[in-house]
Amino acid sequence: MYLQRRNRILRQSAAIRSLVAETRLSPADFIVPLFIIEGENESSEISSMPGYYRRSVDLTVKEVKELWQMGLKCVLLFVKSKDELKDNKGTEALNPEGLMQRSIRAIKDAVPDLLVMTDVALDPFSSFGHDGIVEHGEIVNDPTVEVLAKMSVSHAKAGADFVAPSDMMDGRIGAIRQALEESGYTKTGIMAYSAKYASCFYGPFRDALDSAPGFGDKKTYQMDYSNRIEAIRETIMDVEEGADIVMVKPALSYLDVIREVKNAVDVPVSCYNISGEYAMIKAAAKMGWIDENKAILETLTSMKRAGADMIATYFARQAVKLID
Ligand code: PBG
Repeated sequence: MYLQRRNRILRQSAAIRSLVAETRLSPADFIVPLFIIEGENESSEISSMPGYYRRSVDLTVKEVKELWQMGLKCVLLFVKSKDELKDNKGTEALNPEGLMQRSIRAIKDAVPDLLVMTDVALDPFSSFGHDGIVEHGEIVNDPTVEVLAKMSVSHAKAGADFVAPSDMMDGRIGAIRQALEESGYTKTGIMAYSAKYASCFYGPFRDALDSAPGFGDKKTYQMDYSNRIEAIRETIMDVEEGADIVMVKPALSYLDVIREVKNAVDVPVSCYNISGEYAMIKAAAKMGWIDENKAILETLTSMKRAGADMIATYFARQAVKLID
């Protein structure tokens, strides 16, 4: 048999495979989500996210110093608010002495060059567990956007480098940009969760923050997983409104969307390798059904190959060690 082309030539050894690899992971690709709680010297493992912890501010500061040493240069902050501070207006989200604002300051004090991104949505502060204000059983758009804009300014004031609105209200990117401009925060970036789907895979995250919706679901604001073209529309609108980075979330079931978004916009694209995706790999590995390390590298690489310029992932620490 004579063949003109033999594709296996480029696969025959580890050396040639690494020479021709099209996609490579690096610590610079990762955004590390952190869950922060009140207290001192407190840490608790999230039961549906084995190996992942909620930590008090002091321990979070220790953690970010370590992350920085490992070459992880970007964190995304989430706080677990106390039940008694939750209401329907997101009052606590605007508190200059709130857990988020204190955390931003402490982290920036400890590692000034670390890029600090903050989640902007009302769910951790909402008595209804929804991302927006509830009126007559509905999540109302425009009043929510007003609070999100104020919340973003409050994070910027505390020292956040980027705000990351994850709520999916209409018009919030434009409103946030305008509010930042009006307040003089012309260097604060916006990473928009532009194509965020209503997903069952957020379950473990809602355990982590005790932020599950008290009634109904999030389908009137997060996207329907049947849709692809809508993701392009959402993303392009966010870029027009002023987003610096756009995000597709979740990642694994939406690799097609990541690629289409990457082809459609000229800003960096991120994806969020979410809690349920983490939990699935951890669970299957625990059962001995898959090799955890290989699964981590394969899935993260698939996200980058799909077009993600950066990946928010609970596997960041593990991945950095594996890449080494
Ligand atoms: C809430 C928010 C969610 C996540 C990030 N921000 C959950 C939700 O929309 O219910 C999910 C992250 C994850 O599952 O890892 N605004």
